[in-house]
Amino acid sequence: MKVLGIETSCDETAAAIVTDTGEILADVVLSQIEIHQPFGGIVPEVAARAHLEFADRVVKDAMDQAGLNFQDLDAVAVTGGPGLIGGVIVGVMTAKAIAMAHNLPFIAVNHLEGHALTARLTNQTAFPYLLLLVSGGHTQLLAVKGVGDFTRLGTTLDDAVGEAFDKSAKILGLGYPGGPKIEAEAKFGDPKRFDLPRPLRGKPGCNFSFSGLKAAVKRKVDALPPGDLLDQDVKDMAASFQAAATDVIGERTLKALKEFRSLCPDGKSLVIAGGVAANTALRTRLQKIATQEGFELVAPPLNLCTDNGAMIAWAGLEHFKLNQTSDLNFAPRPRWPLDPNAPKAAGAGVKA
Ligand code: KG4
Ligand code: ZN
Repeated sequence: MKVLGIETSCDETAAAIVTDTGEILADVVLSQIEIHQPFGGIVPEVAARAHLEFADRVVKDAMDQAGLNFQDLDAVAVTGGPGLIGGVIVGVMTAKAIAMAHNLPFIAVNHLEGHALTARLTNQTAFPYLLLLVSGGHTQLLAVKGVGDFTRLGTTLDDAVGEAFDKSAKILGLGYPGGPKIEAEAKFGDPKRFDLPRPLRGKPGCNFSFSGLKAAVKRKVDALPPGDLLDQDVKDMAASFQAAATDVIGERTLKALKEFRSLCPDGKSLVIAGGVAANTALRTRLQKIATQEGFELVAPPLNLCTDNGAMIAWAGLEHFKLNQTSDLNFAPRPRWPLDPNAPKAAGAGVKA
């Protein structure tokens, strides 16, 4: 079976073709980073227009890369939400048009489920497992028990961790996207120089909060002697911020592993996904925690950790194998929680 997957929910226009045996026949990702760089962050309206401009070409490139015609496909999957709604609409309309024109089954996929199931494409990870999803738009801990079967153990009450990296980088004048820049500067900085908070540490539950951390970065930077920030100030703050973010995620993940163990005693894997999972300091910490708790740490290759079409094609395939397809009148969903029974996290907004 071959499924085309289309992803347009954030700032990547992506399409891929994946088989039910886990072969990636094509994987095309067009990043909009350069388009948004002048604004210092993603502008939803600009992103939607760019998706509209590039979606057809990206799909064509994927089909050419795989050497396939639309008739060779078994289904079309697309991110149906959650995400920036303008982009999601573009992707959904593109996928519906292909499905209609070529009489193919249509599958609307939850973007978060795409991230959540990637480890099964790359590492054949068996259910159940604990997922830590850390990206620019999401920070969640989820027990993944099966296709469409999730228990949310934690989410962010305010900013996503990637957002906190990006905003702190902006305060330090490091540009966008900030995560990789903070990591590079942090290598040469003193993580103890600035005393930053560890929000929610020791508090019940596994939720996250990052807006206070970002605000503390701003306060400490503002309190430095007037004038341009010194190179060493930037390095020390980057290191201090990264240490705080790593501490918080480490503590919350350790707690979630313990909760997960009582929920799913058979679970043996901790899976990480999302752009922030590229961070080496964070990976090292998570590896330590996983080993200590007797779990295997599964980290899909970086290009499949960040937004891509292959994860959508694969999640579509997992549903297709269970005969689960969507109606062509599916309406794009700006919000789409993986665990509809999770208690509403105050202030969680679209990140819930
Ligand atoms: O998953 P992703 O590519 O896109 C979505 O947000 O969906 O994640 C992007 C986020 C950005 O906030 C970026 O700054 C962050 O991942 N990021 C990193 C690193 N590389 C990317 N954060 C920390 N350390 C990194 N090395
Ligand atoms: Zn994503």
